[in-house]
Amino acid sequence: MPALVFLATDKKNFAKSAPFSYLCNVNLKLTNIKQLVTLSSELTSPKDRRFRVGDEMRNLGIVENAVVVIENGLISHFGKMEDLPQNLSNNFIEYDCSDKVVMPGFVDSHTHLVFGGSREDEFGMRSAGETYQEIAEKGGGILSSVRITREASKKELKKKARRYLTSMLKQGTTTVEIKSGYGLDFDSEIKMLDVIRELRQEEIISIVSTFIGAHAFPTEFKNNPDGYVSLICDQMIPYIGQRKLADFCDVFCEKGYFDVETSEKILTLGKQHGLLPKIHAEELTSFGGAELAGRIGAVSADHLEHITDDGINSLKQGNVAAVLLPGVSFFLNHQYAPARKLIENGVVVAIATDFNPGSCMSYSMPLMMTIACTHMKMSPEEVLTASTINAAAALNLSNEIGSIDIGKRGDVVILDIPNYKFLPYHFGENHVYRVIKNGVFLEY
Ligand code: NIG
Ligand code: FE
Repeated sequence: MPALVFLATDKKNFAKSAPFSYLCNVNLKLTNIKQLVTLSSELTSPKDRRFRVGDEMRNLGIVENAVVVIENGLISHFGKMEDLPQNLSNNFIEYDCSDKVVMPGFVDSHTHLVFGGSREDEFGMRSAGETYQEIAEKGGGILSSVRITREASKKELKKKARRYLTSMLKQGTTTVEIKSGYGLDFDSEIKMLDVIRELRQEEIISIVSTFIGAHAFPTEFKNNPDGYVSLICDQMIPYIGQRKLADFCDVFCEKGYFDVETSEKILTLGKQHGLLPKIHAEELTSFGGAELAGRIGAVSADHLEHITDDGINSLKQGNVAAVLLPGVSFFLNHQYAPARKLIENGVVVAIATDFNPGSCMSYSMPLMMTIACTHMKMSPEEVLTASTINAAAALNLSNEIGSIDIGKRGDVVILDIPNYKFLPYHFGENHVYRVIKNGVFLEY
């Protein structure tokens, strides 16, 4: 095996500040992989269906003693070692993965990663018995993050976010969605989306951007909620849509936040301006957000702790991905979403961290997998599917990422564990041995 040389280059689009060195412009051959988790679409029926439902979620497409070849950033071959084409040129860096598990990079399809300040005091208050809603009613919660985020400069927000993104990547997440929603006025929401856009251009990790001006009513519109909805609809969405500042539009559809009718208005308008709909639904109460998601063809409905049977039916009919956030229920000591029921009803189930300073201060996808197994009774196989190919579907990206398939992005993690089941089982430890992003081998 040729010696690996890690080059620190100034390759465009790679963060100069990130503590990584990386090997550029080479093709990679990962050989002798003990266990390759492909999640390949070869196994679904029809073969071009890029997500898994029901029992398919337990079929990971495992190949033992495997090889993966990545050329020009894309997966060009995978399979058994003995089937490796003999005529491959020598122009490859070979990396021996004996004793290692290899799988697609994790996709975190729901975060609020850009924010000012932190809310550790609220964490302590909850330990002492106060609830998330009580703290919010006293002016804490989302609005306390809004106050600090408004004051923060773009530079400060970026610096803080960058630290989180680097850590996430080291823990195996190769694609992350980031929402706005701590600005809640025109300039501050655009500031947040600008920060997300710049991070997307500069960082190694892939970033998807979501506008959620409808995250809460800001204090200055407390007595004029319609005025804030007009600001979102008349000014923010047209501006964001025209400049393509976000991929998705999201709404916190909940009692005391945005009602179903207003959520529908905002998401429908967002769609007209090129922003695909997502929705925070049924988090604190059964409110009708899941029914709305199916009706308007949302790409995903997220949270769903209080989803009803009608809501489940609507997600299924509308082919809406259900993004479950086990870290939130764990962190807030709230009820968990009915994962088993959703899976048994054929809904596309994904899991994400919802990383944010209030309801889940963690961006560890493996930790979410563990919680989903212990508290939602998902199987180790189902949580792996929910963190990769189905999470990619929740971002409308399952043609590009989320599985080991020919032509997909070379986003791969090498895990130092005896088999894939150790990922949720041996928790609280980072099992990621190496990360490969767009075919580039990262070293840190
Ligand atoms: O997804 N539920 C609404 N929004 C966030 C919480 C944000 C916060 O508390 O700052 C969530 O859990
Ligand atoms: Fe959220």
